[in-house]
Amino acid sequence: MDDWRHGGFGVYVHWPFCAAKCPYCDFNSHVAATVDQDRWRRALLAEIDRLAAETPGRVVETVFFGGGTPSLMDPSVTAAVIARIGARWQMAPDVEITLEANPGSVEAGRFRDYIGAGVNRLSLGVQALDDADLKRLGRIHDVAEARRAIAIAQSVCDRVSLDLIYARQNQTPEAWAAELHAALRLSQGHLSLYQLTIEDGTTFAKRARAGQLPGLPDEDRGTDMYLITNEICDEAGLPAYEISNHAAPGQECRHNMIYWRYGDYAGIGPGAHGRMTLGGQRHATAGHRAPALWLQAVEEQGSGEVSRETLRRAEEAEEYLLMALRTREGVDADRYAALAGHPLPRARIDDLSEFGLLEMHDGRLRATRDGRLLLNRLIVELSETP
Ligand SMILES: C[S@@+](CC[C@H](N)C(=O)[O-])C[C@H]1O[C@@H](n2cnc3c(N)ncnc32)[C@H](O)[C@@H]1O
Ligand code: SF4
Repeated sequence: MDDWRHGGFGVYVHWPFCAAKCPYCDFNSHVAATVDQDRWRRALLAEIDRLAAETPGRVVETVFFGGGTPSLMDPSVTAAVIARIGARWQMAPDVEITLEANPGSVEAGRFRDYIGAGVNRLSLGVQALDDADLKRLGRIHDVAEARRAIAIAQSVCDRVSLDLIYARQNQTPEAWAAELHAALRLSQGHLSLYQLTIEDGTTFAKRARAGQLPGLPDEDRGTDMYLITNEICDEAGLPAYEISNHAAPGQECRHNMIYWRYGDYAGIGPGAHGRMTLGGQRHATAGHRAPALWLQAVEEQGSGEVSRETLRRAEEAEEYLLMALRTREGVDADRYAALAGHPLPRARIDDLSEFGLLEMHDGRLRATRDGRLLLNRLIVELSETP
């Protein structure tokens, strides 16, 4: 059996446009004066045709529209993309189709149309429940708009997730705890809670270097806030199933679980990454990052792909470890051994378990809560040849 089957198969569609660029964001997102939706629809459909021809007979378990701001995609484009995915592959009867949406009033007006197009899960980028902080984050919506958008989303869709960013400027652990309780009251079973990261190349990185971002929490305070986040979500019945993702049982994002279980996924759109097992070998694919370049490549060369690399088994094993250690369910030791050609390094695991960073039970390796804070270090320790 091909290894990807342990994780399943999903389709990621990237919509790279936003109404404004947030100063902390290093996603492949761009502000464009106009977007020719018809042209984008044609290109996305052509890419679905190309990738489906390479992977005949697959069953699509999940589709994820990510961005950028997919809620700026015309719902008719969303509908056409979903229909084409269903026509070229087989859609699982219980397929999960998520769309990332910004909680502005323009977007909220379209939520019903996305559901009509086949979307059955909305992920709203609320980011903060504090107007001053939303401004500081460069967001173009306020808390009242976000609350209205949440209510509209929940009235048309059974599964609505909220994204929040914590460890913001001058945010105390107490203030975050209060905000998280408020978010839990608004939520219906899924929260993505990200610690603010100052990413290289962003406006925030420039401001931080110039000393213009005072009051950012230091590492210890960031850790405190991460631990508080976990405690509060545990109590509320939304434990972490991944470092930043919290869900009531059964409400986990199945698309993200395909990444973390190291399944296969077709990546469609500018900068989209894919993992596709073809003829027993896993390939890492990536699309041209710049939207105009991607569009031109699809139209003129029949493919938006900029790179395709065949992964060695050792690279697959490392990627699997990296992904699965993020999750509560952890790494299947037998599966790792089959990929790596050698078992997990037992002695090193014992050492790291003594420090309370790892746990091994029933053939599965898991990072503890403390271990998840040091994940990069753990991966290095575990990947070194035993
Ligand atoms: C693809 S992004 C954005 C989706 C949508 N466009 C939005 O802004 O609401 C997914 C999520 O990543 C998180 N995120 C983006 N940049 C971040 C950063 N520098 N630090 C922490 N979280 C970040 C935000 O919570 C965001 O909602
Ligand atoms: S955070 Fe979301 S809205 Fe802001 S620039 Fe990034 S993708 Fe666009």
